[in-house]
Amino acid sequence: MSNYSNEHFRNMVLEDRVHRAMYVDPGVFEVEMQKIFGRLWVYVGHESLIPNPGDYYCTTIARQAVVLARHTDGTVHVLFNRCGHRGAKVLQEQRGNAKYFTCMYHGWAFRTNGELAGVPMRQDFPEAALQDPQFGMVPLPRVESYRGFVFASLDPKVMPLLDHLDEARVGIDEICDRAPAGEIELWAGCHRYHYKGNWKLQMENMADMYHPAACHGSTVGPDGRQFQRRAGAKGGSAPFFAPNGEAIVAQTGVRGFRNGHSSEASLFREEQSGGVWDEYRAQLEAIHGPERTTDILKNKRHSMTLFPNLDVLIAQNSVRVVRPLAVDLTEVEIWPVRLKGAPEDISTGLVKFANITHAAASFIQTDDLEGFERCQEGLNTQGTDWVLVARGLGAEIDEGKGVFFGPRSSEVGQRAQHYAWRDLMSA
Ligand code: FES
Ligand SMILES: [Fe+2]
Repeated sequence: MSNYSNEHFRNMVLEDRVHRAMYVDPGVFEVEMQKIFGRLWVYVGHESLIPNPGDYYCTTIARQAVVLARHTDGTVHVLFNRCGHRGAKVLQEQRGNAKYFTCMYHGWAFRTNGELAGVPMRQDFPEAALQDPQFGMVPLPRVESYRGFVFASLDPKVMPLLDHLDEARVGIDEICDRAPAGEIELWAGCHRYHYKGNWKLQMENMADMYHPAACHGSTVGPDGRQFQRRAGAKGGSAPFFAPNGEAIVAQTGVRGFRNGHSSEASLFREEQSGGVWDEYRAQLEAIHGPERTTDILKNKRHSMTLFPNLDVLIAQNSVRVVRPLAVDLTEVEIWPVRLKGAPEDISTGLVKFANITHAAASFIQTDDLEGFERCQEGLNTQGTDWVLVARGLGAEIDEGKGVFFGPRSSEVGQRAQHYAWRDLMSA
């Protein structure tokens, strides 16, 4: 365990800077697993991953194996992936369907809600032990779902999910409202990769509109040509650079929310149109009317990052999950969504777009991963202890309800994350 006191953690985050130990110290990471991933609501998966009774999806929370499961009665459960007998991990495949979850070691079988269903040579066990729920597959203390996004917490005393999401819940609303049926589906699998860096580097990056002009310069400049390859794009994204050379992308506004969430305005200023996009707009108009439809489609927000491990990419229609594995090793997933009820060509187009922007060998995500690994290497040096997140400090506009807007690629989003981190780690 770390030697850090609460006071140490409080002093690691100042108003305009954070201490490099946050990224490189294994002791800090262990405390994060307890005080952040062990106490907050952590995104587990989407209900569409388990549409049918018996469907399951395996993942981890705070490095602990858990399973998202659909029970025979249709209810959604999150269980520890651990056998109630002598502790073996029960489900080994990442996804599947089973009538019973059966342990390979001695053959105990569990119902899809975790209850013990069958024990070979049962008569040799004291029956009272077999009736004790702790020897089933134990459910996580708290599970809640918001518009299909399932979150769980290891802490029975965690605040209600909607209080945690607070104003930032609009990120989930905005992507779901884009679907004529009002919900999304994760239907196409994901891109999954690791980088040799701390998990917070990816979380910070998602509210970072300062980096694209430099980090993605080889693909975005000078006329945003790559983004114009989106089907139905009308001039693609806004050009990343003005004729005078100024990086327009860096003028994008960012918001910081309570509880460490953040969002950024969209790079794509124009609505996609033509062909299936017109058909899609007509579908939404039939439900919401033209005015509200314009509001839904106008790409006002690029993404909403929900602390500690979820990013809803609204303008891009995908979902990103961040999973810390060690202080210097992180797993990331990108799931393109299906906008349920929309023309199928739109969903397949979103898969293609995710392939070219967020696959491990794509032309955007690779740049970021290079940045994260270089940060990790640089932060291992002793040159200075401080990491500066001062961009736009003092220029934030208080929009009320704990929301702060920062113009011109402000680092207000990174500060919101770090201030939440400080409060959790020093509690
Ligand atoms: S450890 Fe699972 S049946 Fe024995
Ligand atoms: Fe990036």
